[in-house]
Amino acid sequence: MDQSILFKPLKMGDIELPNRICMAALTRQRCETEDLVPNDIMIEYYGLRAEAGFILTECVPISERSLAFPREPGIYTKEQVKGWKKVVDNIHSKGGRILAQVWHAGRASLSTLQNGLEIWGPSPIKIRGIHRRGLTEHEIPHEMTIEEIQEVIKQFKQAAENCKEAGFDGVELHGAHGYIIDQFLRDSSNKRTDEYGGSVENRSKLCLQVIDEFINVFGRGRVGIKISPVGRLNDQCDSDPLKLYTYLIKELEKKQIAFIEVKDDNDPENLFDFGYPSSKDQIPDLFEVFRPLFSGVLIANNQYTPTTAIEGIEKGRFDAVTFGRLFISNPDLVERIRQGYELNTNWDVDTFYTKGVKGYLDYPLYSSQQK
Ligand code: PHB
Repeated sequence: MDQSILFKPLKMGDIELPNRICMAALTRQRCETEDLVPNDIMIEYYGLRAEAGFILTECVPISERSLAFPREPGIYTKEQVKGWKKVVDNIHSKGGRILAQVWHAGRASLSTLQNGLEIWGPSPIKIRGIHRRGLTEHEIPHEMTIEEIQEVIKQFKQAAENCKEAGFDGVELHGAHGYIIDQFLRDSSNKRTDEYGGSVENRSKLCLQVIDEFINVFGRGRVGIKISPVGRLNDQCDSDPLKLYTYLIKELEKKQIAFIEVKDDNDPENLFDFGYPSSKDQIPDLFEVFRPLFSGVLIANNQYTPTTAIEGIEKGRFDAVTFGRLFISNPDLVERIRQGYELNTNWDVDTFYTKGVKGYLDYPLYSSQQK
């Protein structure tokens, strides 16, 4: 395998990537204190992966009302900002780059996760089935008023300012997977009849307003977004994703943001079983239709391997890949690929979302494995 294309440097907006092996946002839930401040094991975990083209943090909630999981580190208190600064400084001291994935869970949250506060969403429609961590059934969200939408936009802006204070190299808006931005984008969850619902322009409005705030804080060269146009996670589907995302990506192109990360959902059997059409039936090849619309960096995400990453980059389908599970079980993934060493595929699903260092810090580095 000739892996050299993965090591071809890439200019992503204002950020220079030394390689195209990037780390996806990964929920790990290791914040065991009530203040949700990043801790020492997180500093070490991220630091071990500093060689990545860039690192995306786990999804980082912007307010008390925006968590979907327990033990997620926030970015809305001074102490959290200080905690993240330690993570960021450590990455920078190793020559790496790290961007925060900024997040509001909307209707995917639970009131029990946010001190009893009601959960918010675009429309009073609940996610069918059990919460992703098996906690309980989902709740019917309160349909946000225009004032409440404005409040959330302000919180996104404050979160970006906090990320800047913590020293992050940039921010990624979490616009995928059925969290608040995605809930407004797609029409299975957005039935509003005001300026934030109905047409693709209206449903894209919250997303684009938040992107504008991020650009105001970081500059367009340090802002990106993750989207999942045909993903079914959290009971999501759009009746015409080609039309919706063509519009959205053209608007993002006008704003000249640095990157778009696309979740390449390829679930032919529609495993989530909400009765929606399968992802591939809606848009068989996301990169074929969206690559021509965007001149910035396009990043592919979803179970890629070095081989499929090389193939896609060589064909010009996308520019880089974010790896998730492979980065969990190979903290030194970049070096292993560079050297052609074997990759560990023994990630331990049972420790993805647990507490402590097990399955978090105990994956061996290749060099120590050889001793
Ligand atoms: C999850 O932790 O299950 C999770 C979080 C964020 C995502 C997707 C899944 O974007």
